[in-house]
Amino acid sequence: MANLTKDLFIGLSNNKFLNENAKRWGFRLGANKFVAGTNIDSVIETIRELNGNGIRCTLDNLGEFVADKAESTQAKEEVLRILDVIHSENLDCHLSVKLTQLGLDIDHAFCVANMREILRKAKGYDLFVNIDMEDYSHYPQTLDVLYTLLGEYDNVGTVVQSYLFRTEEDLEDLKKVRLRLVKGAYKESEDVAWQKKEEIDRSFILLAKKRLLGEAFTSIATHDHNIINELKRFIEENKISRDMFEFQMLYGFRTEMQFDLAKEGFNFCTYIPFGNDWFGYFMRRLAERPQNLNLVMKDVFYT
Ligand code: FDA
Repeated sequence: MANLTKDLFIGLSNNKFLNENAKRWGFRLGANKFVAGTNIDSVIETIRELNGNGIRCTLDNLGEFVADKAESTQAKEEVLRILDVIHSENLDCHLSVKLTQLGLDIDHAFCVANMREILRKAKGYDLFVNIDMEDYSHYPQTLDVLYTLLGEYDNVGTVVQSYLFRTEEDLEDLKKVRLRLVKGAYKESEDVAWQKKEEIDRSFILLAKKRLLGEAFTSIATHDHNIINELKRFIEENKISRDMFEFQMLYGFRTEMQFDLAKEGFNFCTYIPFGNDWFGYFMRRLAERPQNLNLVMKDVFYT
């Protein structure tokens, strides 16, 4: 049953018709629980409040699977403006981007050129840009783009997913690169990815420990208290410097725990999605945890 629900929401997240139309609906179905606002200006106060509580942020201007060059160029222009705002408002923030929003499905060179422009501007402001990892069909191209950019910029990193069999091996090539570790949000075939929660969790813990003993900064991105507690013990036992990692969670999830981790003195970063292209992101959140539906049902029936 849980798998059926997951498949249903993942299916919806990829539905082009619904994704396109949802842009015109405004926030519906309770999406405002997990999406912080419609544009950068509408999320500045949220970021300030989090920063005031010792929490840094990473901003995601929602959008993915763009097939039109003009739309990708517009997305890049928005990202450039967001960098200006982060800088001028002095926010403790970096950026998360999806390459399929910036032209990965259109033309590799076009996507790299967009990223170069973004990284150049971000570098001028001393800001980091993280490339979100999308579904497996984009995985090799995403790493290709990353490796090209790493030859030119040091303010770029990406995400690795513990459900993929190949991640452990890929970490060897990525050992000097700043990374976010997640479980993985897409539906992948059993040829390339673990399917069972226990296997994905076991892999997450193994990869997190490897990274924590390594030489580059890692964002440990999970809402799973069991994993966080196990890693906290590991960090303590191995005297791992708190400067070498942070915990990350998504906006709207386990907010109390986010504040508690920051109060305990851990570096903490909240991932803040915003924008009109919210449908795919929102459906993936429902796929991960059907209980999230309980949180939003009130809005469906009472607004
Ligand atoms: P999971 O959903 O496996 O939950 C584990 C346990 O934690 C649950 O059984 C429950 O006990 C508890 N729990 C979880 N959520 C709870 C809640 N809201 N309230 C109470 N208890 C709760 N994916 C991807 O493929 N590419 C990417 O780039 C990113 N980026 C990203 C950034 C950040 C900051 C995060 C946190 C996540 C991502 N993800 C992602 C998504 C990620 O891959 C994954 O799908 C989700 O984080 C869900 O897995 P969790 O590890 O959070 O716990």
